[in-house]
Amino acid sequence: MSEEDRYVFTAEWYDPNAALQRRYQLIYYTKDGSVEMYDLKNHRVFLKRTKYEELHKEDLYVGNKINVFSRLLHLVDYGDQYTARKIGSKKEKTLAMIKPDAVMKMGSIIEAIFDTGFIITKAKMVQLSRKEAMDFYSEHQSKSFFTDLINFMTSGPIIALEVIGDDAVSSWRKLLGPTNSCLARSESPGSIRARFGTDGTKNAAHGSDSIASAARELEFFFPSSGGRGPKNTARFTDCTCCIIKPHAVSEGLTGKILNEILSAGFDISAMQMFTMEKANAEEFFEIYKGVVADYNEMVAELCSGPCVALEVCQTDAPQRFREFCGPADPEIARHLRPKTLRAKFGKTKMKNAVHCTDLPEDAALEVQYFFKILDS
Ligand code: RTP
Ligand code: MG
Repeated sequence: MSEEDRYVFTAEWYDPNAALQRRYQLIYYTKDGSVEMYDLKNHRVFLKRTKYEELHKEDLYVGNKINVFSRLLHLVDYGDQYTARKIGSKKEKTLAMIKPDAVMKMGSIIEAIFDTGFIITKAKMVQLSRKEAMDFYSEHQSKSFFTDLINFMTSGPIIALEVIGDDAVSSWRKLLGPTNSCLARSESPGSIRARFGTDGTKNAAHGSDSIASAARELEFFFPSSGGRGPKNTARFTDCTCCIIKPHAVSEGLTGKILNEILSAGFDISAMQMFTMEKANAEEFFEIYKGVVADYNEMVAELCSGPCVALEVCQTDAPQRFREFCGPADPEIARHLRPKTLRAKFGKTKMKNAVHCTDLPEDAALEVQYFFKILDS
């Protein structure tokens, strides 16, 4: 077999039982989509070559987390030069930001990001303070538009996104279009700023302008070393908790689901992407333990990849939102309540697109679990 037929990675998996970070060589065979794993420390085959249809070639790049037979593996390095050259050379990270004027359009913007072939690996809704906004845009402090820009950027919440893809820095800016939204409408009518922006200042979204700015700006919102970064926007009152489940996130349904929630008149007052450890998923679903027969499968789905947690606000939010999600089983939902989220986006009882708080008295607790406990 020629080396052309396989991609090789170094992958890490946190083994909760041994409390150890384990390292593997992971080999993916493009011809038949099979995967093989080799334990690097103990020098033995860990997983015999096996076909695994849920793994897609597009998900294989350093920095991404993939799920292989219920193990969440972090791809930390390319395993050979061929893989690095073929996959690694063009993959970049950039900061995409949805500005205050377009937060209500978050669903459509996230859909456009996904449709262009990018992957969102981090997401957080924050409210910038004046100091944070001035820091972020410090390169523009001597410009005439600086005060307007700071006023605008602090006028409401924004959503910061880490986006990965081929030539992400330049291709995301191309998708954004010209800085001025009016010009964008004449020069690049399909662009994000043409579709969702207002004028020269209120222009829907931001993109880093170089690889170096991307690194600095990602560090600003998603600090790697202990720092806090801007605070999330959760209010913890008159709200309920929604989780867009990992299967729906990886199928690219996040944007569509956000659109449905917003068009139904719910307010999304906080949003953040989390990759849950098994222990956290167990703790979050604690109340279902011993009550629901599928507890273990619920936990497995929740920690199978990144999920998106939302704080959803409205009067009687828990009850109304629960009705909007529909029956837990998507098959039943499609028969009885075809307009609900689970009818539209669910696949099976476990992969039913969204979790929502069941009992009104648990709503604030569930929101706190994500936005106070996990986001710290
Ligand atoms: P961004 O940094 O937000 O991605 O936008 P950009 O590179 O296309 O434009 P840049 O020159 O960096 O300007 C940063 C933001 O300042 C506001 N602006 N207003 N009224 C004006 O003349 C003016 N010029 C720029 C915009 O919000 C712009 O995105
Ligand atoms: Mg700029």
